[in-house]
Amino acid sequence: EIIVIDFGSQYTQLIARRIREFNVYSEIIPCNAPFNEIKKRKPAGIILSGGPSSVYEDGAPTIDKEIFNLGIPILGICYGMQLITHLLGGKVSKAEKKEYGKAILRIEDFSDIFSDVSRETVVWMSHADKITEMPEGFIRLAHTENSPYAAMADKKKKIYALQFHPEVVHTEEGKKILNNFIFKVCGCSPSWNMHSFVEKQIEEIRKKVGSYKVVCALSGGVDSTVTAVLVHRAVGESLTCIFVDNGLLRAGERQKVEEMLRNNFHINLKVVDASERFLRRLKGVRDPERKRKIIGGEFIKIFEEEAKKIEGVKFLAQGTLYPDVIESISFKGPSATIKSHHNVGGLLKRMKLKLIEPLRELFKDEVRQLGQELGIPDEILYRHPFPGPGLAIRCVGEVTRERLEILRQADMIVLEEIKNSGWYKKVWQSFAVLLPIKTVGVMGDERTYEHVIAVRAVHSVDGMTADWVRLPYELLERISNRIINEVKGVNRVVYDITSKPPGTIEWE
Ligand code: XMP
Repeated sequence: EIIVIDFGSQYTQLIARRIREFNVYSEIIPCNAPFNEIKKRKPAGIILSGGPSSVYEDGAPTIDKEIFNLGIPILGICYGMQLITHLLGGKVSKAEKKEYGKAILRIEDFSDIFSDVSRETVVWMSHADKITEMPEGFIRLAHTENSPYAAMADKKKKIYALQFHPEVVHTEEGKKILNNFIFKVCGCSPSWNMHSFVEKQIEEIRKKVGSYKVVCALSGGVDSTVTAVLVHRAVGESLTCIFVDNGLLRAGERQKVEEMLRNNFHINLKVVDASERFLRRLKGVRDPERKRKIIGGEFIKIFEEEAKKIEGVKFLAQGTLYPDVIESISFKGPSATIKSHHNVGGLLKRMKLKLIEPLRELFKDEVRQLGQELGIPDEILYRHPFPGPGLAIRCVGEVTRERLEILRQADMIVLEEIKNSGWYKKVWQSFAVLLPIKTVGVMGDERTYEHVIAVRAVHSVDGMTADWVRLPYELLERISNRIINEVKGVNRVVYDITSKPPGTIEWE
């Protein structure tokens, strides 16, 4: 195992991920974690991440100097390098010029971490401070035009340090450098994979849970399903999943979830039919943020009511992924690690529950791999994201049973056609939106005055930015024809050609 100590760099998670790609387990620990924890785990190597601070700042994050005497190989990256220099008696100074972006690394020593790397290679820099004097015992391994010490090492103690970021793709031979550190310096063997991850998680969850009970909020999406199946493998009957049918789900969704969890995985599943309750609270509400608040608040209430009925419940399992915790994991303390739309912070306190988050080290694609390992069908693992407030924020204007039904039928047609044409896996999200206006049309010989459906399909990597998908006209035509012919109350279909920004993916 390789431990990555996080000093707050936006790239920390990438380091851990790269190492897992080499089939070596790697986990991130915030830099203020007790030093003993690191010692106890006896990792094969330690990586000190980058970070936004300067080592001379008041309150700059640091680490126990004892770390250099453990005999464990260490790699410092950027801030990690400056910290090594500072703690071991070298000199770090403000660079006259901030160095940001590509630089040419000129390597002088090709043993261990630079073995097989080109003499001159492109690296990615992002720093304001630089090393002007190495600590005693260190030799220089490489330099760039702006950094006289872009890489250095105390080979006897196996301490290595890089000013650039080997974990980002812009560092062209970064993978090779990390690979060299992991295998040549730390002597790891590539034995980790999703199978061993599952084994390890199961063991940890069992140990943590003991004879108590675990509750899990199931949405039917990738993350909560994988979490539920994994926790179930660990504790079996002690897990109860709660699925709240808020009446804002897509066609057939609830049945699919019930069938899969109960029949395929034999998981205790409690389905709460609360559509009546949600719709009552949403009556007359048009403001999108109010809709969200009401739905979020109601969800928590119902979940709490149900969770309280389970005797001996002490844990809440949640499918938080790394990108969800990225902002909060670092040394600022792991406080706000809850997805905002599942705002369960208050619930944890009130019910004195502890969190189990077995996916918190993983990225989405790793979760899919894990799901495959657990035997979860692709249909679930490759589902498009679906927002917590569900169809309510796609029903622009008031949410009523009738309007939801129109939207639900139109949405089903969009998804069916997108799937049948092979586009489902190629797009990030695709759905229908019901607009709050009526327009004039003519059907048969009659004038109609009915609803408009907007179709939206976007490409995205993380939902932060998005582009509209250039769907074939024939597919759009089929979607439009089917909606108008099959969904009563709709006489017009439009296609949304707005990217994000300036638009958002959802219409509300
Ligand atoms: P926007 O509309 O902000 O959406 O561009 C970005 C991504 O987030 C999803 N989304 C939500 N998910 N609760 C959620 O769980 C919400 O309130 C919410 N609003 C938007 C949206 O579907 C897209 O994937």
